[in-house]
Amino acid sequence: MPEYVTVRVKRQDGLDSPSYWETFRIAYQPRMNVTTCLQQIALNPVTLEGRKTTPVAYDAACLEEVCGSCTMNINGSVRQACSTLVEALRKENPNEITLEPMTKYPVMRDLAVDRSRMFRDLKRIKAWIPVDGYYDLGPGPRISPKLQHQLYPYSRCMTCGCCTEACPQYTKDNRFIGAFAISLTVLFNSHPTGAVLKEDRLKELMEPGGISECGQAQNCLRVCPKSVPNVTGIAQGYRQVTAQWFKNLFSR
Ligand code: FES
Repeated sequence: MPEYVTVRVKRQDGLDSPSYWETFRIAYQPRMNVTTCLQQIALNPVTLEGRKTTPVAYDAACLEEVCGSCTMNINGSVRQACSTLVEALRKENPNEITLEPMTKYPVMRDLAVDRSRMFRDLKRIKAWIPVDGYYDLGPGPRISPKLQHQLYPYSRCMTCGCCTEACPQYTKDNRFIGAFAISLTVLFNSHPTGAVLKEDRLKELMEPGGISECGQAQNCLRVCPKSVPNVTGIAQGYRQVTAQWFKNLFSR
């Protein structure tokens, strides 16, 4: 007797279209994940009631929790489709799996959302190490193992959006930059070469939508799939912003 998985998907045909639900029943395979469920639905897009429909749209690229593009709300919790196993979900709810798009970004179609805001915010804080020139610049500055150890957890951020989805301060209508961008500011400001742009980054954190809009709910820490220490990052961000504020005051 084959085992089945019931998958309920919140669908939307396009930007600003109304949403609706469709339910599918697919054959259970050991070690299958949510992306496998969506692939199975694409192979045979027929609802539980036997009505032919379209395959569910979703984003995916790496299929190994590295790119963050498959982030969605699964059984009401934000996480990646590629690394969420059906076996684990059955322990949460043995009857069905619900899939919904993230709520903080425009829905392009079904489970695919437009996370451009996150990438614009990465530009806002200049989330890069400036290296200019095509010639051999020689070895970069030395970074102590202690600093490497401190910074590595921040470098794991994959801009998936889990921290923004879980944050009550981050809404569709405001400009809050979000925990990921604050943590990345700390990462790049702490790098000896990246520190060249430190003041530009801190200026962005001082603007409306910057660090002061954090309400310290700390959901960002709880939901991050990469265990980025966002709360520590925000605390360090506050320290850097305060020091910059005093520096600006006395250099007038
Ligand atoms: S497909 Fe890249 S994180 Fe899931």
